[in-house]
Amino acid sequence: MIIHQNASLLPFNTFGIDAKADYIIEYNSVPELQEALHTEMVKSNRLLHVGSGSNLLFMHDFKGVVLHSLIKSIERIQEDADAVYLKVGSGVVWDDFVAYCVESDWGGVENLSLIPGEVGASAVQNIGAYGVEVQDVIVEVNTVEIENATVRTFSKEECHFSYRQSIFKNELKGKYIVTSVVFRLNKRPVFKINYQHLEAEVLKNGSIDLLSIRKIIIAIRESKLPHPKVYGNAGSFFMNPVISKQSFFNLQARYPQIPHYFVSEKEEKLPAGWLIEQCGWKGKQIGNAAVHDKQALVLVNRGGATGAEIIFLAEQIQASVKEKFGIELKPEVNYI
Ligand code: EPU
Repeated sequence: MIIHQNASLLPFNTFGIDAKADYIIEYNSVPELQEALHTEMVKSNRLLHVGSGSNLLFMHDFKGVVLHSLIKSIERIQEDADAVYLKVGSGVVWDDFVAYCVESDWGGVENLSLIPGEVGASAVQNIGAYGVEVQDVIVEVNTVEIENATVRTFSKEECHFSYRQSIFKNELKGKYIVTSVVFRLNKRPVFKINYQHLEAEVLKNGSIDLLSIRKIIIAIRESKLPHPKVYGNAGSFFMNPVISKQSFFNLQARYPQIPHYFVSEKEEKLPAGWLIEQCGWKGKQIGNAAVHDKQALVLVNRGGATGAEIIFLAEQIQASVKEKFGIELKPEVNYI
């Protein structure tokens, strides 16, 4: 176990906010985490568990203990003719795991290439992109309960996954720490390439296989999303709003060109990036915080921005979208 005191949170937030934590504890195994949870330092302080912080915005220094997993094992725990089952440590970098699966020719996560963050957070956040969500390949999630340091496994059903949601962000928020995730990968991959122009792009490259899909998705993401090393950011700042069919038809009558995705017979999802762009925010900057010029859903730190500056910009955007479209944008990013 490694304990840092009065330590910078810069390595733990992709927004590049220079906040500090009283303590940062990094653990290498489940027993080490259990040991940490029994210490007075953890019991008597506010706790925050972080991955690589690709969904966090620090408004202030963090008064308390930040926990971070260094559990980086990948174990093949089961295999049959169709699939392999991998138990992957929460501290494994998500995209390293995707690269490993693609190299091994196991399908299921290739569309989630280059999503920032670590494996533990992927299950909390139910990350998704290009028509795939991580819940599609999750079998179970292993955790430790914070209050009594006991282990508990959640089946996929018990995780209550939905768009960018899980039980760990809602009913059980702050109660369990994910230590590993069991994934089922396909030995006979089924390619999911019907998102926008994905299929055409993949075909331009020649044949359809896991590596060509991964390469195209990386190229699309790199063309739209700023690299956090250049401009701090947390990917999509807001969630795409899901609205009733009736509200959608009302909006479509006013804006016939509005892009939309089918959710169910009752609901439709709208791209928040489009709503924000229509309000004139794309590329705009207030202080050191800005709206990315290639993807209006991404807010960026142009250098030295504080959490408060980014939230100020986010609130201006929310107010514009509410006024023009009557829609409340909800941040995907957590304010700490
Ligand atoms: N659009 C605009 N202007 C913009 C941005 C988007 O008009 O500035 C419209 C376009 O019509 C575009 C549509 O929005 O076709 C969708 O844009 P995009 O394909 O970039 O996807 P998104 O809905 O903005 C979501 C996820 C991304 C994920 C992509 C691809 C959320 C909150 N975001 O973005 O996830 O990569 O789909 O599947 O659901 C993330 O969560 O950090 C993330 C990057």
